[in-house]
Amino acid sequence: MSILVTGGTGYIGSHTVCELIQNGYEVVVIDNFSNSKRQVLTSIYEITGVKPTFYEGDVADITLLEEIFTKEKIDAVIHFAGFKAVGESVKEPLKYYQNNLESTLHLLAVMQKYHCQKFIFSSSATVYGDPASLPITEDFPLSTTNPYGTTKLMIEQILKDLYQVDPTMNITILRYFNPIGSEKSGRLGEDPNGIPNNLMPYIVRVATGKLPQLNVFGNDYDTKDGTGVRDYIHVVDLAKGHVKALDKLDAGLHIYNLGTGTGYSVLDIVKTFERVNYVSIPYQIVARRPGDIAACYADVTKAKKELGWQAELSIEDMCLDAYHYIEQANKRAD
Ligand code: WQD
Repeated sequence: MSILVTGGTGYIGSHTVCELIQNGYEVVVIDNFSNSKRQVLTSIYEITGVKPTFYEGDVADITLLEEIFTKEKIDAVIHFAGFKAVGESVKEPLKYYQNNLESTLHLLAVMQKYHCQKFIFSSSATVYGDPASLPITEDFPLSTTNPYGTTKLMIEQILKDLYQVDPTMNITILRYFNPIGSEKSGRLGEDPNGIPNNLMPYIVRVATGKLPQLNVFGNDYDTKDGTGVRDYIHVVDLAKGHVKALDKLDAGLHIYNLGTGTGYSVLDIVKTFERVNYVSIPYQIVARRPGDIAACYADVTKAKKELGWQAELSIEDMCLDAYHYIEQANKRAD
């Protein structure tokens, strides 16, 4: 029996594929390389010694999905594929609704046709909006402030409605906080095209001299040093959380926060990155980024109790591994 991983050459998807293989699962990957590179498949082989079965294409392509479910014995699906840039989603909402919703609806329809009932969905802490208190538990009110986050919320609602009519489904929704870092070998990691929107890829570009300095988006928030606080989680811990969710997958609809339960400020990250990597990260304080919230971190009790999972890697590991990846990537490029 195989696990179909959509978006399996992406940042989180590829790390999860490695963890699945290393835990004895047969993996089938579908990806259209819209936000990743074919080289990732080679990296997965170098790390695990296994070449996952691969189908290039779009998850919205029903014919391709039918081919996969006909040829492969798919026991469960982990669905990562989707556009995920908040800023881009504001500029191009239809692109995000079309891509993220259509692909998911077609995938769920084909799963039903082939009686595949196990589904793990890549959701995001962004569905909590600006929380009234902290830490955030899974039963907090849900709201979103951008089309990307709204697609996540809509898909969660689709899954809840689907479960109502088919309670034999095994559905798990995983809400990620802020994934950063890379697996230890430095073969997989996050290096977005263009100027990075997210903090860690931007810091890495400054550390490698590709950008002159970090712009810190505001230091007047109600936090310990005025800069934004987030729950950063090592991407390998996040990947392990998916394996735990798959191992547990039983009838029902389950929702879990995947974070560390600890919040770090922007300046905490800058200082930690500088300390562990022996580099300097020049920065300037600039205006707040529209749509940002002051602070966000998870209550991770439920995942620990029900999945037997908790994050183990430290903020130092995250900063070390993020830099190690880009150093290795630059060596490979030379
Ligand atoms: C983190 C902190 C910024 C860049 C987003 C999405 C979320 C998820 C993760 C997909 C904030 C500050 C950032 C910079 C800065 N993505 N910052 N200078 O906004 O918490 O979450 O990415 O699922 O859905 O919303 O992450 O890394 O962009 O920002 O000061 O150049 O770093 O203000 O406080 P965010 P981020």
